Amino acid sequence: MERYLVTAALPYANGPIHIGHLAGAYIPADIYVRFLRLNGDDVVFICGTDEHGVPITIRAEKEGKTPQEIVDYYHEVIKKSFEGMRIEFDNFSRTTREIHHKTAQEFFLKLLENGALVAKKEKGLYCPNCKIFLPDRYVEGTCPVCGADGARGDQCEKCGTWLEPFQLINPKCKICGATPEERETTHFYFKLGDYQKRLEEFVYSHDFWRPNVINYCRNWFEEGLRDRAITRDLLWGIKVPLDDEEFKSKVLYVWFEAPIGYISSTKEWAIKIGDPDRWKLYWQDKNTRIVHFIGKDNIVFHAIVFPATLMAYGDEWNLVYDIPANEFLNIEDEKISTSRNWAVWVDEYLEEFEPDPLRYYLTMIAPENSDSNFTWEGFQKHNNTELADVIGNYVNRVLTFIARNFDSKIPEYSKDDLGEYEKNLLKEEKEFFNKFYENLHNKRFKRALTEYIEFYKKLNKYFNDMKPWELVKEDKKRAGEVLAFCVKLLRDTTVMMYPFMPTTAERIWVLINELRDIKEERWDRFLDIFPEPNREIKRPKKVLFRKFADEEIKKQKEKLIQKSKEEIEKNKKYKPLKTEITIEDFQKLDIRVGKILSAEKVKGADKLLKMEVDLGFEKRTIVGGLKKYYSSEELIGKYVIVLANLKPRKLKGIESQGMLLAVVNDENISLLEPDNKDKINLGDVIG
Ligand code: MF3
Ligand code: ZN
Repeated sequence: MERYLVTAALPYANGPIHIGHLAGAYIPADIYVRFLRLNGDDVVFICGTDEHGVPITIRAEKEGKTPQEIVDYYHEVIKKSFEGMRIEFDNFSRTTREIHHKTAQEFFLKLLENGALVAKKEKGLYCPNCKIFLPDRYVEGTCPVCGADGARGDQCEKCGTWLEPFQLINPKCKICGATPEERETTHFYFKLGDYQKRLEEFVYSHDFWRPNVINYCRNWFEEGLRDRAITRDLLWGIKVPLDDEEFKSKVLYVWFEAPIGYISSTKEWAIKIGDPDRWKLYWQDKNTRIVHFIGKDNIVFHAIVFPATLMAYGDEWNLVYDIPANEFLNIEDEKISTSRNWAVWVDEYLEEFEPDPLRYYLTMIAPENSDSNFTWEGFQKHNNTELADVIGNYVNRVLTFIARNFDSKIPEYSKDDLGEYEKNLLKEEKEFFNKFYENLHNKRFKRALTEYIEFYKKLNKYFNDMKPWELVKEDKKRAGEVLAFCVKLLRDTTVMMYPFMPTTAERIWVLINELRDIKEERWDRFLDIFPEPNREIKRPKKVLFRKFADEEIKKQKEKLIQKSKEEIEKNKKYKPLKTEITIEDFQKLDIRVGKILSAEKVKGADKLLKMEVDLGFEKRTIVGGLKKYYSSEELIGKYVIVLANLKPRKLKGIESQGMLLAVVNDENISLLEPDNKDKINLGDVIG
């Protein structure tokens, strides 16, 4: 028996969780924990919400709420989503709890005492009225780029420029309106470089870590680890535990304190189970293995910063044993994006579906070694052809057959007197299970599940090959033995199903009337168990896995697209208007109808096309940056709108004699084209 502490990244409480989060960290972590428990290992599974940092304050501003309101709300939403997905932590904490604030502050002070932190003087904006250093977002002024008022110290909303608070013209404190002053202020930096050697030894001694994790670390090491600021001027977060006035508005950097949340959450768990010191067994007894499940964007904090934090505190801490970091999940071939609302949200999913089809599909396409792609059609296909047609079908056939022909009782059989087919199948099952166990042990969940469904097909084949519906008429005793053996296989595969799809496994467990809790099963003996004859089984009242109709899946995909469109529309930023002009100004432009006669690439330019354009009264050569957006074939014969009196200019040595008018946005260029082409002539005037 081994002891494990398994953690899953603490999700930001600034929104609900989406399927990318599930696939990246939570589903694999939950599978692994269930696997370990069936192994008889001692496991504590820890998580909680990450409730500080800029992501929270941004969300609060956007929704017009306080950060506290935001985290209170989303903590509950996220917790419910995990419960709905059957991701079952031993403790699900919050980084706003006092136990975490205390633990994180203690870490800060200890690191300070140990000389791991260095104080640096920097200039900051100080509000003499509020008597605090202002976070970037709390300074407002005129944008030096577009001249808009109300630009924030980090960004101008109007033109999108990223700013430093010092760049603002006429800066004001957002809280009181006073003019802030530039003052020197102290920030603390963690001397990460001091730990580089130890960290390198530590990381490279784990040759079993996934290559993405090791490579990521190697890049950091090669660049050289530098001091990292671990304090911030922010009003929301864990206060820097120092008395001086200037620290009143400073908090610990969220990425410094959040991983310490794993420790605080374990402490909270220990108190909850009435054994307050027990957390030490997991964090300080060297026989415990700590495993962090995360997405790839969190690697540096779990493989470098957090281990360094523990090293800097003292030698008593266990460092992480493994970091199974997944790559990213895309949806319908596009990156998941909260700002564009390109996501499948777990709370919304659960309103319409059961957890297991998603647990199954996300594991089958798990981004273990490279990014992967969720599609609604893929979800439907895996559900319909594997869960429903392979697993659901088998369960239904076996149990219905027993109900109809054997009075719902497991028929008599002798496990010491099996036929050749059965003996071979048991041998195959054993071989399959050994690989299955190895794969789970090595956190290759996708492979374990893929082979599982392949093995499951053999159960259906056995049923088909034995033709019990015929056998029962000729030799009822033999038919009974076959069905009893089917129940044995069903029992075995259900135990193996449990880590992946606990809800379904428990349902089957009830159907075959197993008295013991499925959690009491153990890998080293479950295959030896044969269900006792005459035990009553139940007939499934409703199908185990319902099939998803095309309509329903189409609707989901449309909803995804629709909601994303709405979000983009909502957040659209329009370019500010240019200064006013008169009609005389406009009339200086000579704009004509033209037609493209030819279009060819320009040597040495990867964006440009050289076009011949017919204006009716003459032909022009026009060079334009259209290559990315149009092929030559698409352009030839096309009517266009040409700015014809633009002074010619040379592009890549070719004289361009005019300009084609087009709609230009961030993603595309679309040429303007006249309406009613049969009523116009080349060279006609636009005005
Ligand atoms: N909240 C972070 C994210 O969503 C993860 C924090 S993990 C922890 O990316 F270790 F820092 F807690
Ligand atoms: Zn002020």
